[in-house]
Amino acid sequence: GSGKFFVGGNWKCNGTKESISKLVSDLNDAKFETDVDVVVAPPFVYIDQVKSSLTNRIEVSAQNCWIGKGGAFTGEISGEQLKDVGCQWVILGHSERRHIIGENDEFIGKKAGYALSQGLGVIACIGELLSEREAGKTFDVCYQHMKAFADAVPSWDNVVIAYEPVWAIGTGKVATPVQAQEVHVAVRDWLKKNVSAEVASKTRIIYGGSVNGSNCTELAKQEDIDGFLVGGASLKGPEFASIVNSVS
Ligand code: G3H
Repeated sequence: GSGKFFVGGNWKCNGTKESISKLVSDLNDAKFETDVDVVVAPPFVYIDQVKSSLTNRIEVSAQNCWIGKGGAFTGEISGEQLKDVGCQWVILGHSERRHIIGENDEFIGKKAGYALSQGLGVIACIGELLSEREAGKTFDVCYQHMKAFADAVPSWDNVVIAYEPVWAIGTGKVATPVQAQEVHVAVRDWLKKNVSAEVASKTRIIYGGSVNGSNCTELAKQEDIDGFLVGGASLKGPEFASIVNSVS
């Protein structure tokens, strides 16, 4: 693997003040391996609550942000504001934003460039639809997503790539360790050819899609899987902690 193991919990559009207070207290009680970066991404409206109650052992991410400086953009949240409330990361290019909200590569790339300029780390998501996999286009789709990020980011230092095959997200149909490893290698190879050997070896590539406490260990053993982006299972403190501790 490359660098420190990285595990993010993407809470998506879930939770209430009450359920989040319980989850934060479970996370505060959990024991984490020292050599793992741990990040959680609450919905915007709960970031302040989480920042003021969560141990600083765990960093906080947003799930999205605006493409540039704040201003007259009703309903949006700027990178500056995320920094102001103590966020260290932002998830960009998640498949739910690409395919449900309709964000395209260029828009996502711009967001990544701006977020990095504001000092946020970017969890850059890529990954193919089932139809694209079945058509043999998995690598092409991932390369296209990678190119959009590469065209927009000045440096990969604060970027973590999350490979999330869309057919594995929220379906319980996790990619096999072999399937995931194969794409991670291809993405690393793409970085080597199109960015640099150094960036390819240093950049963490994490896997997301139905990761849970039972399948994480086998996935974590794969050479090029440097961590996970966890959805559903990150809403349960003890299970999320066991995924964090699956580092190998
Ligand atoms: O960002 C997280 C992914 O979309 C995975 O979600 O673990 O619920 O499949 P999931």
